[in-house]
Amino acid sequence: MTGTSTDGQVLDTPLTRLTGVRHPVVQTGMGWVAGPRLVTAVANAGGLGFLASATMTLDQLGRAVHAVKERTDAPFGVNLRADAGDADDRIDLLIREDVRVASFALAPRRELISRLKDAGIVVIPSVGARRHAEKVVGWGADAVLVQGGEGGGHTGAVATTLLLPQVVDAVDVPVIAAGGFFDGRGLAAALAYGAAGVAMGTRFLLTSDSSVPDAVKRVYLETGETVVTRRVDGMPHRVLRSGLVDALEGSGRVGGLMRALRNGARFKNLSGMSWREMIADGRAMKHGKDLSWAQVLMAANTPMLLKAAMVDGRPDLGVMASGQVVGVIDDLPDCAQLIGGIVAGAAEAIAAQQSLLVR
Ligand SMILES: Cc1cc2nc3c(=O)[nH]c(=O)nc-3n(C[C@H](O)[C@H](O)[C@H](O)COP(=O)(O)O)c2cc1C
Repeated sequence: MTGTSTDGQVLDTPLTRLTGVRHPVVQTGMGWVAGPRLVTAVANAGGLGFLASATMTLDQLGRAVHAVKERTDAPFGVNLRADAGDADDRIDLLIREDVRVASFALAPRRELISRLKDAGIVVIPSVGARRHAEKVVGWGADAVLVQGGEGGGHTGAVATTLLLPQVVDAVDVPVIAAGGFFDGRGLAAALAYGAAGVAMGTRFLLTSDSSVPDAVKRVYLETGETVVTRRVDGMPHRVLRSGLVDALEGSGRVGGLMRALRNGARFKNLSGMSWREMIADGRAMKHGKDLSWAQVLMAANTPMLLKAAMVDGRPDLGVMASGQVVGVIDDLPDCAQLIGGIVAGAAEAIAAQQSLLVR
């Protein structure tokens, strides 16, 4: 392709410069989904992949970081939960292992951002509102990832097309656009809004490099429809529409609490955490937020319900987080094909727009 530099870079943006990746395409941290296999494939394809650590123990995270480092020299990141009881130990690990970039699931904490930055790690929190973007940039964030309401997982109500320009205008750091992206036109549009790149969750889940069981990927491709429910963990969560989600939406308070307790007990066994640590995590999650204890307890649902589908291959028993973009996806490319196609498509779209200019 003309205009391509010798290392295959096509687009030079503040994101590629900040993180050292070749292409301004980010694979976000997705619990149970974004493990070493997916992150390595993204890194080797020139994108920026994030390991999802919210569903890993500290030891598992250490092993996952080593696994990626053994297979690529390219930069990659780790998605952290600021309210995890062992968040400081996880940051020590990132510093020790020389991980290049950190992102946060949900709200970050100021002191965690400072520690990461002092160690030279690039910090990119996710935000769903302009005032959150202003706050984290005030705390020293190097860039922000803005997720519009069409995005998968925990999500807000404002669409990417409205949130993105607001945030671009409000902050003076690179902004990465997320929520609804899947192709080169989307990347070109995000750049036109003033973003430095795009981030995608659902599109990367639906690649041949993701470890999600094939039967579950098929359910995503066949269903193509999402709903936002608060019945999983008390927060608005965009998920694939399924019989289980319809049942959760229809179930009463007592049934929901009983299920939360059962799943909390299963997660405790799986994660090796004690009740004391889980309660400490719950208290941290509740701190500063308007969550009832019942909602905190419901949050214990999330890891188990996501794992049932994403790892155990049981879409009938699990909840499948998904963006609305699932409705326009009908294939399972590998990450190199996907990222290469998106970058080439964006370059084409930008060239086509330039041809519209009347000189
Ligand atoms: C299966 C799944 C799991 C997710 N888990 C996390 C997570 O652990 N941490 C996080 O910050 N975001 C998580 N998200 C949100 C994504 O990181 C991303 O912001 C979102 O998928 C972007 O929208 P898109 O799906 O339209 O690309 C998840 C999304 C999905 C689809």
